[in-house]
Amino acid sequence: MSAAAERRALPPDFDAGVADAALSGLMASPKTLPPKLFYDENGCRLFEAITQAPEYYPTRTERALLGAVAAEAVADVAPGSALVEYGASDEGKAMFLLDATDAFSAYVPIDIAAQGLASIVARLTRARPGLALHPVAADFLSPFTLPAAVAQAPRFGFFPGSTIGNLEPRRARSFLADARRLLGADARFLVGVDLRKDPAILVPAYDDAQGVTAAFNLNLLHRLNREAQADFDPDGFFHRALWNAQQSRIEMHLVSKRAQTVYVSGRRIVFAKGETIHSENSYKYAPEDFLSLAESAGWRGCNLWTDSARLFSLHLLRA
Ligand code: AVI
Repeated sequence: MSAAAERRALPPDFDAGVADAALSGLMASPKTLPPKLFYDENGCRLFEAITQAPEYYPTRTERALLGAVAAEAVADVAPGSALVEYGASDEGKAMFLLDATDAFSAYVPIDIAAQGLASIVARLTRARPGLALHPVAADFLSPFTLPAAVAQAPRFGFFPGSTIGNLEPRRARSFLADARRLLGADARFLVGVDLRKDPAILVPAYDDAQGVTAAFNLNLLHRLNREAQADFDPDGFFHRALWNAQQSRIEMHLVSKRAQTVYVSGRRIVFAKGETIHSENSYKYAPEDFLSLAESAGWRGCNLWTDSARLFSLHLLRA
């Protein structure tokens, strides 16, 4: 086929970055897909639905905990400080902190989705006219710099949602060390961390009865069909969530129902019956284990809050 014909043969939504990211995982053994591929438009909508599922306790538990402890968490924030939020898809959780003190003069939401940041700025410009807004459109796992406007301000970091649990512990430690350097010598860092607990609670949270998490996981295959020139039959796979006690993590997999061959961007991928694509890890930490991870990254524990059922934790760290 000529180069021009080959270009014409590509689907309109083809994305070489998505195809490359998918292929490097699908050609490895065992097969994997990077969790960042979950969050296309449909994936974001499905994740939002997951947070409403009765079995998925983290979001509502963290929000309730923030409501209860925000005032204590920000009690010694110095006036003129900047609130720096990692992974700010909206300002909902930050509002608990902003409402609890007048000490923040600036809010720095960091997120990869520039459109979401623009919506945050539009809402907060109306709701908080006195608050300086400095959005940063960046992947916070890669190097980035803070806006010059907050260079001299004391910083209070905020990383809610237990997104830190989606990182391998070694990656979590390097992220925490980078945040320690970026936030500076007098910084505080409030981190939401899901707690290790009974698998009878954990597994349904990642395999809800309505099948929303299953749809979220299978959406990866729909996305690859659209954007990576793939021909997955999504009905040929099913969602599985399992608790890996040794690694202290929930694993999500897509299990092949039969022996099958799939093409992704022209590359042949062969599946045995029962073979899986490992699509996500969600690490769960006992408080002392998260604390020693944070300490190994240069932080010290300042305070720790958990809900009464000990489902979720908020760690306040200081540099
Ligand atoms: C984004 N992250 C914290 C979620 C979690 O709980 O690990 C992602 C998720 N995957 C399935 N359900 C939720």
